[in-house]
Amino acid sequence: MKALILSNDKETKALIQRTCQVHQPALEIIQPLPGMQSDVGLITLNSPDVVVIDANGYGDKSLEIVASMTQKYPKAFFMLLSSDRSSEMLIEAMRLGVREVVALPIVLPDLQAALQRITEKISTTEKKEGKLLSFLSCKGGSGTTFIAANLAYALSALGRKRVLLIDLNQQFGDAALYVSDLKASLALSDVCNSVDRMDLNLLESSVLHVTPNFNILASSDQVENSADIHVDQFSSLLQFVRQHYDFTIMDLGRQINPINVRALDVSDFIYPIFQQSLPFLRNGRRLFEIFSALGYRQEKIQIVINRFESSASLDAAEYERVLGQRVAHRIPNNHEVVNESINQGLPVLQMARSSPITKSLVEWVNGLVDISTPSTTSLIRRIFVRNSAPLDLFR
Ligand SMILES: Nc1ncnc2c1ncn2[C@@H]1O[C@H](COP(=O)(O)OP(=O)(O)O)[C@@H](O)[C@H]1O
Ligand SMILES: [Mg+2]
Repeated sequence: MKALILSNDKETKALIQRTCQVHQPALEIIQPLPGMQSDVGLITLNSPDVVVIDANGYGDKSLEIVASMTQKYPKAFFMLLSSDRSSEMLIEAMRLGVREVVALPIVLPDLQAALQRITEKISTTEKKEGKLLSFLSCKGGSGTTFIAANLAYALSALGRKRVLLIDLNQQFGDAALYVSDLKASLALSDVCNSVDRMDLNLLESSVLHVTPNFNILASSDQVENSADIHVDQFSSLLQFVRQHYDFTIMDLGRQINPINVRALDVSDFIYPIFQQSLPFLRNGRRLFEIFSALGYRQEKIQIVINRFESSASLDAAEYERVLGQRVAHRIPNNHEVVNESINQGLPVLQMARSSPITKSLVEWVNGLVDISTPSTTSLIRRIFVRNSAPLDLFR
């Protein structure tokens, strides 16, 4: 666990540091960036789990600083040290997300007890980093964008997760148009170039808000911007976004370039998208050789067959034999539903709730939500409870 301590008083700061270091489990102290004490607008990408703010050092501005820090580190636990014990101050601090208010001057057992409560809460909170999922086309037109965009929407709508879709097709990316009618003013390259001053506000203003919990970071439609992304900036961006979204879904298109390799490296799962024909299988075999050269574990790769027909001559067993692992997902072939959804820019889940394609996405979401949070109520049950009219998802 990492702690960030903001205090202008040397003695108070030293006392909190020592308390953090001898605490069980010990907290690692993150040093604020130079200038952070006076200008909390700066950010460290090394996110703290605990932020301790000594209100006295900041006078009237202390709650303002708390507000800006809780915005920057929405998943951190905040402790405020204050000599003001008025109920107005306590209520305002709690409203801003402060979990513990400790009186100044510090009484050591109080500080230790507050730290104990916070670390207990942290260890019982679910793992904080969101999952990264990469979708890669084995051949043009395999349905990668359709599946990535629709799975992203379904995860947000059914799984009640915060989801970000990143379009990594650096030219002619069209993922946003598959599930919305929104047009991006900022593209991935702009956001990567600003990553050094990234915070929640900047991120929020850079993404398309399809729904409150489904956002898209679109690709650039300016050809000259496409080569502008640096791998390290892209890595920092992913590190940042995974703290704010439960799932980040990346549409890689069909290129293996340095940015895409970085995306694949850090992904929890990679979904190569196949169709049932020999050219896909041949390309897929080459792709699997690349995965193996890159050292990826077999469980990280999840084979998807799109436009699946059980009557096709190349059946799933053939893919499993050639590629040496099981097919994870089959998305049925349905030209009419898919084209209507893409043409209208509406997710299939909205447009054709009872189609077999929707059913296969729901099953996929269910598997992902199960691995990310041990949910007590099954997703399927929630869908039926929430929608009083019966949904014919499984026809
Ligand atoms: N499950 C499906 N059933 C029928 N047609 C599909 C399906 N998935 C994709 N398609 C068709 O394939 C086309 C290409 O899909 P797209 O997602 O743009 O592929 P990619 O991103 O891999 O190039 C779509 O316009 C649609 O007509
Ligand atoms: Mg595409």
